[in-house]
Amino acid sequence: MAKKLNLVVAACNNNGIGINGNLPWRLKKDMEFFKKMTSDTINPDKQNAVIMGRKTWFSIPEKFRPLKGRINIVLSRELKEVPTGVHIARSLPEALSLVETELSDLVENIHIIGGSSVYKEAMAGPYPCRIYLTRVLKDFECDTFLPEISDEKFTKIANPDNVPVELQEENDIKFRFEVFEKVC
Ligand SMILES: NC(=O)c1ccc[n+]([C@@H]2O[C@H](COP(=O)([O-])OP(=O)(O)OC[C@H]3O[C@@H](n4cnc5c(N)ncnc54)[C@H](OP(=O)(O)O)[C@@H]3O)[C@@H](O)[C@H]2O)c1
Repeated sequence: MAKKLNLVVAACNNNGIGINGNLPWRLKKDMEFFKKMTSDTINPDKQNAVIMGRKTWFSIPEKFRPLKGRINIVLSRELKEVPTGVHIARSLPEALSLVETELSDLVENIHIIGGSSVYKEAMAGPYPCRIYLTRVLKDFECDTFLPEISDEKFTKIANPDNVPVELQEENDIKFRFEVFEKVC
């Protein structure tokens, strides 16, 4: 059976996720959560794949990309070159097929880490899918948005053990972790 897609995203009150190619906020605890969620594996011989759009790739500071300890796959129809060891795919199905074939012995879980259109395609497509949403409880000006999480397709589930349930706060910003599972 195809692997589940785990979407990891932080969105604020207006569902905004980005501004001018960056995150609208700085939340260290959320970055740590993102790192843990996308890096941890049960099998020490495997890594997780992180699939991202070209703009999300370039939004990662150069010194932190590729995201270490993870298999980085960048979606782009145009991009010619990425660093050695990073994979380019021309579509989401191509990225998933790469994971199921060439990388199948290496990959434990698949994480979709943005941006907008990649989240949208993963949510709308025929894939088993879970969303790890950091709900940032504040208004920020944004130019990039998380597509609506459809009530018909997704249901909110209890946080698994590795996802804190308590309300978080940092830099005067309250936020909480929520998890949604595709039901059809
Ligand atoms: N808050 C969060 O959790 C979060 C997460 C991720 C990103 N962000 C923010 O979101 C912004 C970037 O996201 P974005 O939505 O603007 O851009 P993006 O999705 O990261 O990148 C868009 C580009 O990715 C490529 N692409 C996307 N879908 C593709 C597909 N199905 N097949 C082939 N190529 C595909 C295309 O590249 P080509 O033009 O090269 O073909 C497209 O122009 C930044 O501000 C970033 O900081 C926030």
